[in-house]
Amino acid sequence: MKIIVIGTGFVGLPHAAVCAEYGHEVYAYDKDQDKIAAYCSGDPKRIEHYVAEPGLSAVIKETMNRYLFFTDTLEDIIEGTDAIFLCLPTPPNHNGSTDLSYYRSALHTLAPLLANRQDQRRVVVINKSTVPIGTGRLLESILREHNVPNVGIASNPEFLPEGEAVEKSRRPDRVVVGADSEEDFRILRRIYSQFYNHVRIKYIETTPETAEAIKYVANTLLLTYISFWNGVGARLAESFPNVSMEDLKRGVTADSRISTWGSYVSNGAGGSCFGKDIQSLIHQFKSVGQPADLLQSVYDINEYQKSYLLDRAVRECGVNFNQKSVALLGLSFKKQTNDMRDSSALRVVEGLLGRGVREIRAYDPMALSEARRWFDPAKNHLYEKVHYFESPKEAIATSDMLFISTDWEEFRGLSRTIEQCAPPPYLIIDGRRMIPDYAELVERGYTYLAVGSPTLRRHK
Ligand SMILES: NC(=O)c1ccc[n+]([C@@H]2O[C@H](COP(=O)([O-])OP(=O)(O)OC[C@H]3O[C@@H](n4cnc5c(N)ncnc54)[C@H](O)[C@@H]3O)[C@@H](O)[C@H]2O)c1
Repeated sequence: MKIIVIGTGFVGLPHAAVCAEYGHEVYAYDKDQDKIAAYCSGDPKRIEHYVAEPGLSAVIKETMNRYLFFTDTLEDIIEGTDAIFLCLPTPPNHNGSTDLSYYRSALHTLAPLLANRQDQRRVVVINKSTVPIGTGRLLESILREHNVPNVGIASNPEFLPEGEAVEKSRRPDRVVVGADSEEDFRILRRIYSQFYNHVRIKYIETTPETAEAIKYVANTLLLTYISFWNGVGARLAESFPNVSMEDLKRGVTADSRISTWGSYVSNGAGGSCFGKDIQSLIHQFKSVGQPADLLQSVYDINEYQKSYLLDRAVRECGVNFNQKSVALLGLSFKKQTNDMRDSSALRVVEGLLGRGVREIRAYDPMALSEARRWFDPAKNHLYEKVHYFESPKEAIATSDMLFISTDWEEFRGLSRTIEQCAPPPYLIIDGRRMIPDYAELVERGYTYLAVGSPTLRRHK
């Protein structure tokens, strides 16, 4: 099949690469010329500057110029196309609704080209972005306005978690396709022939509106699990003596009806999707006169979670952050990615700067160059206080306290580094419960304040 992917970010690039790996002829188009130049170079460093996903550069190297082609112009690639995937940003507006301006802009470029194509074979325009219920119809009306012949629309939402984009594009849990006609379903089945009739992968065909709704319900349910454990499990274990977070989790999730996914506790869930999708669904509920109290609570609990540990440090340990040096480990919103969008670390940095710290000594295995863009001193002079280090050891050395914000596996072995570089008394604020042997550190005189535990310090 000849496929065009419009938008080559976190979703579009892995999707294009894996479609090419499965032998389709794929044209990946983006209006960002620097991005396209970086991808065309094939240089893993330049590719990862934009999308750092395990295995992605290798698939691109394997397929580029044979099955996968990058371009910053659409004009020359339209003829003979079977399917066009839209992988465009859908950020939130101030009121939580979804900003569809990227969408409209891309469609106003695409529709006239489709209208004027020479060959009039069937082409399906497929929404892969997360879009409000009914956006497929908007797409349809724009195509109709431009008199595009022999065209169908479909919704094929993306569920991949960042950090596993290639793996999950190769082997998704499910493929959801919403379309109106058998002809369009057939085109999608050919594109996804490796998944259709797969014994494990669920291939679900439905209406475009249901497909759009499935994405929102799935994402907000995942955030609900996370917020339930943060808002109930963590609160319990922090407030009632001798409630063990780990035992609580094991005991509750031993029930086969209860999901183990999401049973970890953390300083909030970030990333480009959870926050914006739940805000959008709240807005969609309100627009049809439905109460959205449950969704609003889930959103509020998650936001609270991103900053409450600093307040706890003040309340429970009497910490005065003024002029302190704080080591901050983990900047990306989760492990295995350099993506910092809506990362809890952003709130931690703002919270620390707002409390007058002298410096933040930041380390992240993948997100340091991304962080330099987020914390650009030209935007806010306080960001001059953020300093970057190449290892946890260097970040911790000379600091007064430590904050762990991302669940990178390498942080699990931190206790030795802490002992070597930062003698007690020293405060460890652990937003991810990454130090399994914290009791030994406490025994040696460290203060340990973690999500899901009361503050722990040695009894005098
Ligand atoms: N990031 C995720 O993990 C994830 C997972 C599932 C679904 N989604 C959804 O997928 C969609 C895309 O997300 P993303 O993270 O890939 O976004 P992104 O910002 O990483 O990528 C979007 C790309 O679209 C390009 N673009 C914008 N306007 C364009 C235009 N008019 N023409 C051509 N290219 C244009 C941008 O330059 C950018 O490269 C969103 O709706 C998001 O909610 C994201």
